[in-house]
Amino acid sequence: MSEWQKSNWRAKPRVQMPDYTDPEALAAVEAQLSKYPPLVFAGEARRLKQHLGAAGRGEAFLLQGGDCAEAFEQFSADAIRDTFKVMLQMAMVLTYGAKVPVVKVGRMAGQFAKPRSAPTEVIDGVELPSYRGDIINELAFTPEARIPDPRKMLQAYTQAAATLNLLRAFSTGGFADMKRVHSWTLGFTSDQEVQKYAEIATRIQDTIDFMAAAGISGETTHEFSTVEFYTSHESLLLEYEEALTREDSTSGDWLAGSGHMIWIGDRTRQPDGAHVEFCSGVLNPIGLKCGPTTTAEDLKVLMNKLNPQNEEGRLTLIARFGAGNVGEHLPRLIKAVREEGAKVTWVCDPMHGNTIKSSTGYKTRPFDSVLREVRDFFAVHSAEGTIPGGVHFEMTGQDVTECTGGVRAVTEEDLSDRYHTACDPRLNASQSLELAFLVAEELSALRSKREERQAS
Ligand code: PEP
Ligand code: CO
Repeated sequence: MSEWQKSNWRAKPRVQMPDYTDPEALAAVEAQLSKYPPLVFAGEARRLKQHLGAAGRGEAFLLQGGDCAEAFEQFSADAIRDTFKVMLQMAMVLTYGAKVPVVKVGRMAGQFAKPRSAPTEVIDGVELPSYRGDIINELAFTPEARIPDPRKMLQAYTQAAATLNLLRAFSTGGFADMKRVHSWTLGFTSDQEVQKYAEIATRIQDTIDFMAAAGISGETTHEFSTVEFYTSHESLLLEYEEALTREDSTSGDWLAGSGHMIWIGDRTRQPDGAHVEFCSGVLNPIGLKCGPTTTAEDLKVLMNKLNPQNEEGRLTLIARFGAGNVGEHLPRLIKAVREEGAKVTWVCDPMHGNTIKSSTGYKTRPFDSVLREVRDFFAVHSAEGTIPGGVHFEMTGQDVTECTGGVRAVTEEDLSDRYHTACDPRLNASQSLELAFLVAEELSALRSKREERQAS
């Protein structure tokens, strides 16, 4: 086995992590978390890795989505159910477009810690440390609320465990039956504004009816009534991650027990930094955010550190350049991947490069920019002959008004109505599903092109 140890990151430079003021309280929390059960198991993480490998080859497609930041105050069964539900609907639509299985991964059950662009925040001349997610400190703008408190890790663990428990129940307990999921989508497309998607919805219905007539349905076929649903989050708060890391008894490998997939953010991907060091040693599938400042040299070093065995599905590169910037950055990184002969799964995050401040003062993302980045991503892969392996969205099943646009247009004036995110603006249920229809169109165009090429 390698020299890697789960605490090695402590000797590396760290950024975006809190300076806890009470080392004893921190040590007590770490000791406690170390005794708690892991939330996920090694076999599950390996299975997800296989699915992601398939996505990298174009034989599956990843749908990763959920809150920017899970919040203690917004924790409810309904919120979890609604996000799960809209993700299943999206997956159904994407499966139809891609004609390959859709791998469903929530930004859920652990997505609590946030990197910030500035260490402090100033409101009306008062300067306080930034909010860093509910696992670290509190959103309220008071000096006490912004002090990092290690005990919040225990609450985060509890919430993650309860969330995962509910997700596991939804996945197998009948909620995920294909017929039922599709009937929700039909409800959506029967609305006047979104009729333009009705044709695809009808074709999906025909397929389901045909299969039911042939004896394949949720009652007869396990795959039609259950789903595999995985969890993911940014591996940012390394004390939490380390405390939940466990040795897999069957292989002797290390598992980050906090979630199936973990990713490294655009602000914490320093090749010699603490976050890369931690992620390099666990067996989970790893995501790596790639932004406009990711250099080809860094990417090469990172690919070698994070995936030295060049294992398929181990490394997902999550491109987040911003609409209009994909053509400048994605080809140069694809070239770096090619030069290394690296096996990666390319995924598009069209959220984090498209955050703007609205005229009404809210942080928002225009639906059209999100869509444009996805389309640019597909176009570049098509031109390069590489595979667009999935999408990564900040979204919720709730009817919030955080991103502008979509067929049920949210305007800048509407943003104040239901703006609930603790951090970045999310697509609401309708915007998420609409985007799925539009991505499905891209996928089916891609498939036609591939088939044409094979025929000629
Ligand atoms: C995020 O995914 O919430 C995030 C902060 O992304 P990035 O690291 O790409 O900015
Ligand atoms: Co975010």
